[in-house]
Amino acid sequence: MPLTRSVQGPIVRTHPNELHIRDIAAYNEIFRIGTPFEKEGRFYGFPFEGSHFSKPDSKSARKRRNLLQPHLSDKSIKKIQPVLERSINQFSRILQNASDDESGVDLSLGYRSITIDMLLRYGFGKTLKTLDDGSFNCRVAEDMDDVLFGSLIAKHFPKVGKAVFELLLRLPRAIAKTVKVSSILEMREECYGMLRQTIEKPRVEDVSHSRIFDTAVKELISDSRQLSIDDLTAEAVVLLFAGGEATAISVIVGTFHLLSDPKRLHILKQELLSAMPDGRILTLSELEKLPYLRGVVKEALRFTQGAPGRLPRVVPSDGATLCGEFIPGQTIVSSSHYVYHFDSHIFDDPFAFKPERWLDETDSQRLDKHMLSFSRGSRGCIGINLAYAELYLIFAHVLRKFDLSLDGTTMDDMTLRDYYAPMAKGHLKVRVYGYDKRVHIDGSE
Ligand code: HEM
Repeated sequence: MPLTRSVQGPIVRTHPNELHIRDIAAYNEIFRIGTPFEKEGRFYGFPFEGSHFSKPDSKSARKRRNLLQPHLSDKSIKKIQPVLERSINQFSRILQNASDDESGVDLSLGYRSITIDMLLRYGFGKTLKTLDDGSFNCRVAEDMDDVLFGSLIAKHFPKVGKAVFELLLRLPRAIAKTVKVSSILEMREECYGMLRQTIEKPRVEDVSHSRIFDTAVKELISDSRQLSIDDLTAEAVVLLFAGGEATAISVIVGTFHLLSDPKRLHILKQELLSAMPDGRILTLSELEKLPYLRGVVKEALRFTQGAPGRLPRVVPSDGATLCGEFIPGQTIVSSSHYVYHFDSHIFDDPFAFKPERWLDETDSQRLDKHMLSFSRGSRGCIGINLAYAELYLIFAHVLRKFDLSLDGTTMDDMTLRDYYAPMAKGHLKVRVYGYDKRVHIDGSE
């Protein structure tokens, strides 16, 4: 994704009926609460049909968002810190074993496993079997690169994508399994199965926190929102797939940059050590106040952006004026987060991973105006609070407790490509050369 300044002006025609706009005021207009600029249906259809993510019109998407949002509010997420930490404790046991055996670890698979496990726990009260068994070899994590590639093809050639998936559905299971993109179909079947179980055996209420799909299933049973099990299956797949991968890539890239830069890693480790001398991890509200950790989280998000490339929106039928230009109705306008996050007029030395750029409160507020990792407005990320919580907790646990070094991973491996979601060229491989023996790595007292 090379960035060039050779193009003058904020509006560039990228297709006969599509304009790319690079202007933060226009972005804030297109991506605002109550925006009349709807998602372009073709781009958002397959493979998440039936979910609110795929619904172009914000009104019908809102009904579904309203169903999920109470579970994803800042308050709800702060309450489930212990649930999220159970996933990290499982993960930590695996790192500890790797340290004892001096074996290498694929942290790309590891971080994908944690983020999927967290969503399974909070969504359904289930866990990832492979993580329970002490391994990161989870099929969805392993096949994610191919699934992203497949969904990119499906975005540009929706008919081809759909035909391939329909063919896979008809093939005998054993053969379909050999095709890696089929793991998204398996995920769909598993979500359907978990929802069926929740419907048949609703959960007893005496628990410390509610789970996302317990409430959703109650709504389905009461029929107050006219939901079907297929609707909820589609929602579950989006949460697991989009939510899991977007968070994982941010921690992967953030960890890589820290391990490549001993000075900055040392600053973070010192901050974590003095805030948590006995290794007991602080609450989320306390972690958010650690300035360097906050800078690391922000830089990880700035580098990865959730969706770096074009996010197409349709101009309302009366047309709209953006950047002083009238744009006729039905024109497609798109914006790429990448160009904002690496704009050297805003972020000094933009390709350097510098947590300290976020330390000064005034600078931080100014930069935040240009941070679009979660997009904005009515169709902005519904999982933002969960994502922040995961990032703070994973960085704090892993870098407070473990000493890691890169195991051959280079900057080239971490080059990101736009597959709608960002995908790294290679995986993050590390060695665990030590851990704080005074700390109960797995969270036990
Ligand atoms: C660092 C982590 C994350 C980043 C950077 C991120 C980023 C984004 C972005 C940029 C969008 C807008 C996409 C578009 O308009 O095409 C989005 C939407 C969405 N995100 Fe996230 N996301 C993250 C984590 C999560 C998590 C953990 C969840 C689930 C709990 C989640 C669920 C969703 C959903 C359902 C939408 C669609 C919202 C709608 O269409 O109304 N995301 N996210």
